[in-house]
Amino acid sequence: MNKAQNIYDNQEFFDGYKKLRDNQYSANNLEEKPALFSLAPDLQGKSVLDLGCGYGENCAEFKSLGATTVLGVDISEKMLAVATAEHSDIEFIRADMSDLSFLKGKYDVVFSSLALHYIEDFGTLAKNIYSLLNAGGYFIFSQEHPLTTAPIAGASWSRDSEGNVLHYNLTDYARSGRRSTMWIVDGVEKYHRTFSEIVNALVEAGFTIEKMLEPIPTKETIERDKSWEKDLHKPNFLLIKAKKPLSD
Ligand SMILES: C[S@@+](CC[C@H](N)C(=O)[O-])C[C@H]1O[C@@H](n2cnc3c(N)ncnc32)[C@H](O)[C@@H]1O
Repeated sequence: MNKAQNIYDNQEFFDGYKKLRDNQYSANNLEEKPALFSLAPDLQGKSVLDLGCGYGENCAEFKSLGATTVLGVDISEKMLAVATAEHSDIEFIRADMSDLSFLKGKYDVVFSSLALHYIEDFGTLAKNIYSLLNAGGYFIFSQEHPLTTAPIAGASWSRDSEGNVLHYNLTDYARSGRRSTMWIVDGVEKYHRTFSEIVNALVEAGFTIEKMLEPIPTKETIERDKSWEKDLHKPNFLLIKAKKPLSD
């Protein structure tokens, strides 16, 4: 297995990503976060693990929704420096989530928001998360949509002579594996998996799938800025709510 890349500690990437996230009209704010939180069960009194927690924003939200224990894990020192400065009441650990053997407790809910497409071996991770969950617990995650991660040359659109989007250029869908893309900087490593590979990895780990979401922009978002209409051709994100059954 390749060593996990830690691109968020690259200063140029970190600064560029911060700029994207500071935009109130980011796809995270308009599409991904509302979908993620719509999948959350009642968190009152629950223990929560957040894998790839970044700035710890979601961790703080889980706490305000009643979670009693919240642990954020991230590989990036720079992301965790922001997280600890902004959320001093939450515990954060710097680690690569590909190896979770350092975690000894059990959790009611494991969340992961937009981090799993950086992980090479999703099957092993799903099994590890399954064993960290209490019976009846949930694994809820978002990732880049498989149609986004598919093209080896990077996501692109066909446009008419006036620049209007005609369609998404889907290629390489069935060629799963590592992608090296230009996103803020060159050489950002991600992993493409097909829908069936994602779903089958969860099923093989023992999960049942309760819900999947592929959020699209609201009517108001499209009215405010027509460029969002292209997400109706291809959603940006895939979200899955998977449950560990009450008995194996
Ligand atoms: C797109 S950011 C999302 C941050 C946060 N979950 C959110 O939604 O605001 C992805 C995060 O995943 C982290 N990450 C990437 N690979 C990781 C790995 N192997 N182990 C732990 N964290 C990782 C990055 O450092 C980064 O903070």
